[in-house]
This record gives sequence, C-alpha cells and structure tokens, in this order.
Amino acid sequence: MLSVRMSRPLVRSSIRALDGYVPGEQPRAGARVVKLNTNENPYPPSPRVMEAVRAVPPHALQRYPQPMADEFRAAASRILGIPGDAILAGNGSDDILTIATRTFLDPGDALAYPAPTYSLYPVLARLQDARIVTVPWGKGWSLPVEALAASGARAIYLANPNAPTGTKVPASAVEALARAFDGALLVDEAYVDFADEHCLDLALRLPNVVVSRTMSKSYALAGVRFGFAVSRPETIREMAKVKDSYNCDALSIAAAAAAISDQDYARSTWAKIRAQRSRLTSALEALGWSVLPSQANFVLATVPGNRAGAVHSALKAAGVLVRYFDAPGLADKLRITVGTPEDTDALLAALGTIQ
Ligand SMILES: Cc1ncc(COP(=O)(O)O)c(C=O)c1O
Repeated sequence: MLSVRMSRPLVRSSIRALDGYVPGEQPRAGARVVKLNTNENPYPPSPRVMEAVRAVPPHALQRYPQPMADEFRAAASRILGIPGDAILAGNGSDDILTIATRTFLDPGDALAYPAPTYSLYPVLARLQDARIVTVPWGKGWSLPVEALAASGARAIYLANPNAPTGTKVPASAVEALARAFDGALLVDEAYVDFADEHCLDLALRLPNVVVSRTMSKSYALAGVRFGFAVSRPETIREMAKVKDSYNCDALSIAAAAAAISDQDYARSTWAKIRAQRSRLTSALEALGWSVLPSQANFVLATVPGNRAGAVHSALKAAGVLVRYFDAPGLADKLRITVGTPEDTDALLAALGTIQ
C-alpha cells in the first residue's frame, strides 16, 4: 500500500480548533415524541405547498434551477411590498448568514453580537477567521447600542426576536444602532412573524442594514431549507457574488413561493401559536417557573432549584423533547418550542409526573 507523507496537517488549524455547531436532536421518522426542541412550526405547511411541489415538471429537475430563485423573489416582492432586486434567496437562513459573513468580514475583522444569542454566529466567524466580540445584553434584555457601536467590529449580528431568549428589542433601538455603527448590521428576523414589529423598512432605508428571514419557522418549511435576505439592491448584488451559483433547488423555490403566497393560511398558524405561547407561559409560571416575555415561537424558562438539566432528561424519558443549553447564563433554563394545544397538554402532564 502506498503511504502519503504529510509534512503539515491536512485540515486548517482554525477548523481543527472549532467546535462545530450542534443542532437540536431530530428523532427518527415516525418516532412518537412531542417535539418542542428546535422551534419548528407544529402545523403542516399550507396545502398549496404540496400542490406546487407536485406541479413541478420533470424538466425542472433535469435543468439547473433559477440562480436567483426568480419565482420566489416575485412572490416575496408582491407579499412584502418590496422590490424583487432587494431580495436574495438562500438555502435556509443559515445559508444567508454564511453568505453575509463571507461578504462583510475579512479574516481578522471582528463580528460583534449581544450574548447570549444564536450559537451559529461564533461558528461562522471562526470559519471566516474573524474575531468575535460579545457584548452582554442591557438591563431587561435591552439593546446595548453604545457598547455594540463602539465594539470596533466590522459587522454586528442581532437576532430579533433573540434566540434562545425570545426577547425582542424595538425597531427604534435597531435604527439607533444602525445609525451609530459604521459597519454592516444584520438583523436576523428568523422569528419575527410571531412578533409585533419588524425591521424590513430599515433594510431599504439605511445602507448598512441587512434583514434575514427564514421559511423554516413561520411557514413550516424547516425540511425544505429556504431563507432570504432583504437589503438595498447594491448590497444584494454583492452578496449574490458570494453564494453558490444554484443555492436553492427547483423544488424548494416552488415550495417557498407557494408558502409565502398563502398568507391567510400562514397567519392563521401564527395566531394559534401566539395564543398557545400565552397559555404555555401562564402554565409554567403557575408551576413556579419564571418565563421571559417571548415574541418568538418558543419560551425560555428558568427551572427553580437549578434542576433544568435533570428536568430536560426526565422530559426526554417521558417522550417530550425540549432544548437545554449547558452554557453560561443558560444552564438553569429550558427553551421550549410552542406547539399545538395537545403538545402543551402533553408537556404539562409530563411535568406533573416529574416535579
Ligand atoms: C436566530 C436564528 N436564526 C436562523 C436560524 C436558522 O434558520 P434556517 O432554518 O432558515 O437555517 C435559526 C434556527 O434555529 C435561528 O434560531
């Protein structure tokens, strides 16, 4: 057998040093679990989505897809009331975040974000050999505008509503930060359809704001992988240079266009999820847990007596999956996705046997 003599490691040192992103557990298909751990929508996508997927002709699979996801861009432009060339489609909003990181950060530049937040941000920064500046949230989970603006970073990522807290800062604070900061401000609006306000107009009014959205949560398409960015056309054109040529496939473009076009259906699921969020919050508070006010499709709850890890395991044994982060500031908390009324019933019943 031929051997290869390697004088240096095969893999870049920054990759070897990296702890990759750890996704939430996905049980095998058909497993009977109550799945409240990855903030998916508990309702199926609009029936129009499956119709659109079935209507995709064979030649659309034979050929490469539209590089800029034209069909989705047209639908999103109509629904959101923004120009089509202000939209960039991505293979999930994680793809948008990857594209943004590669567009806005040179190796050695700093990415700043208020912490705790979405744990993918540091992974993306490290992949780009960028530095990370974390800034603690202000009192009451407010936006630390001055500290972020003075961070010396080239880009700021702001999840709003934030994950895993569910808290949201007002658009006026986001605008104040964008005006005080001379780099790119990416506002990650993965959960914004469950909130009372968004920042889409900021992305068109101010030259340094990019908003990212996902079809995974509010449109129930996590399995399809589709997200998008909104910014001024001149920025979108630069980001488009960075993306894979065909980053969205023909089936996902058809599915996402159909989903965003069926606003009545989507909004009916958002209303049900908001109502269930209130019920879940009150029920957990009645158990003596403290729950952060959430504008997302999940809640972050502090389990009394530092039992979050134990409760997480006991719930899992009872067939209820929730998310536990053994991380600074989060180790006494559980993040619980808002499900159907039956999901909440099952969670509360399981907690009743554990407490
Ligand atoms: C804050 C935040 N941004 C982005 C994403 C990624 O969403 P997508 O499924 O579109 O990649 C998530 C997923 O959990 C998230 O929590």
